Amino acid sequence: MNSNIEQRDEQTRADRLVVLGTGGTIAGRAARRGDHVGYRAGEVAVADLLEGIPVPAGWLVQAEQLAQIDSKDIGPGVWRLLLARVRELLDRPEVGGIVITHGTDTLEETAYLLQRVLAPAKPVVLACAMRPATALVPDGPQNLADALVVAAQPGARGVVGVCAGRIHAGLTLRKVHHYRLDAFDSGDAGPLGLVEQGTCTLFQPWPVADGTDGVARLAWLDRLLGPQPWPRVECLFSHGGADGWLVRALLAQDALQGHDRPDRLQGLVVAGTGNGTLHADLLAALLEAQAAGLRVWRTTRCASGRVLVAGSSPDQVPAVALPPAQARLALLLDLLTA
Ligand code: SIN
Repeated sequence: MNSNIEQRDEQTRADRLVVLGTGGTIAGRAARRGDHVGYRAGEVAVADLLEGIPVPAGWLVQAEQLAQIDSKDIGPGVWRLLLARVRELLDRPEVGGIVITHGTDTLEETAYLLQRVLAPAKPVVLACAMRPATALVPDGPQNLADALVVAAQPGARGVVGVCAGRIHAGLTLRKVHHYRLDAFDSGDAGPLGLVEQGTCTLFQPWPVADGTDGVARLAWLDRLLGPQPWPRVECLFSHGGADGWLVRALLAQDALQGHDRPDRLQGLVVAGTGNGTLHADLLAALLEAQAAGLRVWRTTRCASGRVLVAGSSPDQVPAVALPPAQARLALLLDLLTA
């Protein structure tokens, strides 16, 4: 056992890494070993994925199957399970870190939500894969081994994702490729670090809590875990010919169903062109939505970068420096605070 780990164990009595399985390609099964598409995600049990994966020295690994889904189908149901279980495990002194096996498709949403709501002082590491577990040369086993290494690092904290040897902060990671093994990046922020040969090299500090105070985070958690539906926030794009039809259809449908429903439409996130610019006809409809009481935020449909706001020009639709799917969750949390 290396001396850093001994020191950490003495201080915290933590000797356990818990691996929560939620499905994804990392647990996928294909009809043929050469198939890297057209397989079924979320089939192989997390305990089986851990077979033969090296356990970091001085640690015990415990597996729990929390869900078994293709992450494109994630929503409040599985997010509630994750928030509740991760929270419980973080409170246990014997748990030093948590690894979550997860599909790549919505990894950036789960990572964002866990970091914003829980801001963990222990590591919560999302592990994934681009090839199913049954592939001739799967990438999941190495990614899972790397995730355990990261979770066992002395001083590690916060939500991060590990893929293809790179560690990405939960708030900045994005899936940027549909097929390549190195499918994630952290945009202009760059990766947090690397895992090579079982060793971590960090370029940036581990993620820490944002400005949200602990009391507000606890209130979010209570509300998110409660029985009420989460605020409905929908996403749309600005594009050539965007004339606001979709926005007006949403408003009309919502009015038809009545405004006092707990699942009424409360927010819209629009991915604009370039620096978050919006087709004039779409903008007109979004201003109608705001006038009707909806919160509307804009971001960019560009693969990287964030919307910059000139202090001198009026910001009719507030801009947010997040990719659309994360902006949707940020607005949802904001609506819980309002
Ligand atoms: C999923 O997101 O569950 C399927 C795709 C993947 O994990 O790469």
